[in-house]
Amino acid sequence: MPGIALVGVQWGDEGKGKITDALSRRADAVVRYQGGNNAGHTIVVDGERYALHLVPTGVLYRHCTPVIGPGVVVNPEVLIEEMDTLEARGIDTSKLLLSGNAHLIMPYHLELDRVTERRLGRNRLGTTKRGIGPAYADKAARIGLRVQDLLSPKIFAAKLDVALKEKNLLLTRIYGRLPLDRDEIQEQCRRYAERLEPHIVDTTLFLHGALDRGDTVLFEGAQATMLDLDHGTYPFVTSSNPIAGGACAGAGVGPRDIGRIIGVSKAYCTRVGSGPFPSEADLTESEVLVELGAEYGTTTGRKRRCGWFDAVAARYAARLNTLTEIVVTKLDVLSQFESLKMCVAYEFEGRHYEALPPNQTIFNKCRPIYQELPGWQEDISDAQTKSDLPRRAVAYLETIEELVQTPVSSVSVGAAREQLVDMSA
Ligand code: GDP
Ligand code: IMO
Ligand code: MG
Repeated sequence: MPGIALVGVQWGDEGKGKITDALSRRADAVVRYQGGNNAGHTIVVDGERYALHLVPTGVLYRHCTPVIGPGVVVNPEVLIEEMDTLEARGIDTSKLLLSGNAHLIMPYHLELDRVTERRLGRNRLGTTKRGIGPAYADKAARIGLRVQDLLSPKIFAAKLDVALKEKNLLLTRIYGRLPLDRDEIQEQCRRYAERLEPHIVDTTLFLHGALDRGDTVLFEGAQATMLDLDHGTYPFVTSSNPIAGGACAGAGVGPRDIGRIIGVSKAYCTRVGSGPFPSEADLTESEVLVELGAEYGTTTGRKRRCGWFDAVAARYAARLNTLTEIVVTKLDVLSQFESLKMCVAYEFEGRHYEALPPNQTIFNKCRPIYQELPGWQEDISDAQTKSDLPRRAVAYLETIEELVQTPVSSVSVGAAREQLVDMSA
């Protein structure tokens, strides 16, 4: 079956960009199906670092068609900027396809994301402030503007009027901000329309054709399972469905179009923004992981919260996504530790949880139960095959396989494209 979905197992930033890039070598199309420019996917090729936010990772290969599907929320200004930056670095973006059904992130969404976070104060979610939540909210409320509206100025103006009236009331009366100017937004969007028009197509039809031909289509997840709107640590989640099931809804394909579902997981765990994180390390350990793993957000530059591999969450992700395999990334970051912790269960008020606790209060307050594993304290960044890995590193991976009940197919041992160990070789 030619559809492959790639999803984050944890709270994002697992190295999905790098693994999508590795798989793109043999993919005909790479599709983003949810999220927007809250994503930050880093790829390192020949020492050059690319940080992609909205353009699918497949753009780096000439043979690959990058597709932005209907489930994505698109800030047209950011998309154009990203395309320009890529072009300036010699990357051809002419093949990029943009769904006319994708929703637009409008200037008032950005403003609302900022002011609602400010108003929440200590209870804020720690969003990326890219307007993601407000844009998806308007989509669900059926007052969103879509990419295709850019091509119909009259419809665009009418829809903008409706939305902006409400948003300006919110901004001025509730949040004490200045109203946004309708004509200015319309003029900006007219310029975006001109630039983006050649890319706007029915991506669903395109994908159906590709899948029917037997092309390899890669569905590139952004964010991750534990940030899923319905299945993550609500309300500390993003406003879309990053899980594999989301690929069907967001790209417009059926469950039977996807045969291989790859979960990407760090060998440890990180989270940016607020919300529960049972296996979060203590301050000293966290600082070491931040330092060794260069754990700063690709999108916002925020320091990531760091912790140990959480087998409870990973097991949940494996089931929820029906993962066929796991790719473990950043194993090299653990090389210096004498001993490693792995969270195998949670404990709350004397009760052990080997599955995700049934409610958020328990998840917030539970303590991790750790299994200690010996470290390998050896540089593994040049490893190419399983036999190049120290015995203890293999044992660490086998423990993951056992606890998550899913095979580890590859292991990433550095940020560069070639630093990837095929575990079957
Ligand atoms: P994504 O959002 O899931 O694509 O992940 P990010 O790109 O936000 O964060 C992953 C970071 O880890 C990036 O800076 C990558 O260059 C880097 N990275 C990916 N794989 C590895 C690895 O195996 N080892 C190390 N040391 N860094 C890695
Ligand atoms: P990639 O694709 C890590 C987090 C934010 C915040 C929450 C909601 O690079 O893995 P949003 O702006 O989406 O409304 O913020 O989700 N978040 C991410 N964390 N990686 C990401 O993307 C993220 N995208 C959103 O930090 O906690
Ligand atoms: Mg990221």
